[in-house]
Amino acid sequence: ARKIIIDTDPGIDDAMAIFFAFQAPELEVLGLTTTFGNVSVELATQNAITLTEIAKVDVPVASGVVVPRVIAPLPHPDFVHGKDGFGNIDWPAPKGKAIDKSAAQFIVDTVREFPGEVTIVALGPLGNLAAALELDPDLAGLVDEVVLMGGTAIEYGNVSPVAEANIMNDPHAADLVFTAPWQVTMIGLDVTHQVLLDNSVLERIRTANPAEGEFLYQCSQYYIDFYSSRFDMDGCYFHDASTIAYVMDPSIFGVELGAVRVACEGIGIGQTIFAPQGMDFPSPNWVDVPMTQVCMEVDSDKLLKLFETTMS
Ligand code: BDR
Ligand code: CA
Repeated sequence: ARKIIIDTDPGIDDAMAIFFAFQAPELEVLGLTTTFGNVSVELATQNAITLTEIAKVDVPVASGVVVPRVIAPLPHPDFVHGKDGFGNIDWPAPKGKAIDKSAAQFIVDTVREFPGEVTIVALGPLGNLAAALELDPDLAGLVDEVVLMGGTAIEYGNVSPVAEANIMNDPHAADLVFTAPWQVTMIGLDVTHQVLLDNSVLERIRTANPAEGEFLYQCSQYYIDFYSSRFDMDGCYFHDASTIAYVMDPSIFGVELGAVRVACEGIGIGQTIFAPQGMDFPSPNWVDVPMTQVCMEVDSDKLLKLFETTMS
């Protein structure tokens, strides 16, 4: 099985992604690391532990960064994920505790234990990955791949015309991640806005898999209401869980190669700027930037099927 660490800010679609990964026989989840984002890091950590308890898996949870590196923290989007991060469903607090190690230290130690084998799947703002890179300057060369949900190359943003929420929450961290010498795959709004998850899928999963299915169904109602009241759609976008589908079966996606950098100030703050491979720009900002794989196409039916069958 492919070894992964999931860095996350649960978060309703984070919960979908985490259960998806727990259920996938192709994947071995080595740990969850948490960040501020959809909720505070304290709540993200509690929520991550709750998910391990619902799924009855014994996976360590390490708590991570509390605030962005440079910018002032943005408000948590409770109108999307609820005050509790799970759509205000009043789920009981978990019994377990986080391990006594920071998220960044957990990432470094785990990657060092399995050099070349670990994929980091990032579902929130990227502060823990940036902190891990600083903690261990050789880290990038030891990681198999970084697969992240965030950004957008061509599609409009979701928190500004050009910025996606995870990147906007900590643009400086994101720029470090995109310019470090590791293989990054970006799953941004270009593809996640092409996949719509609706209640019919969630209802079938609930019937087939009552433990995780009931929880996902309950917390998704708030999320689906948000999407259907704001936009004319009957369901929700499938952001974070798309990363897990990518790790399981990359052929579901079409990728383009290019350099990605993040605007860290001004009106375009949080934008992931994409320079397709082969276009050489003389500005020093664009010299020697590693190639990111940017997902631009997705087979939505295949992706949703993979989610449903794995979760059932
Ligand atoms: C991303 O932002 C969060 O609200 C979601 O959990 C997802 O990671 C989508 O822009
Ligand atoms: Ca998330």
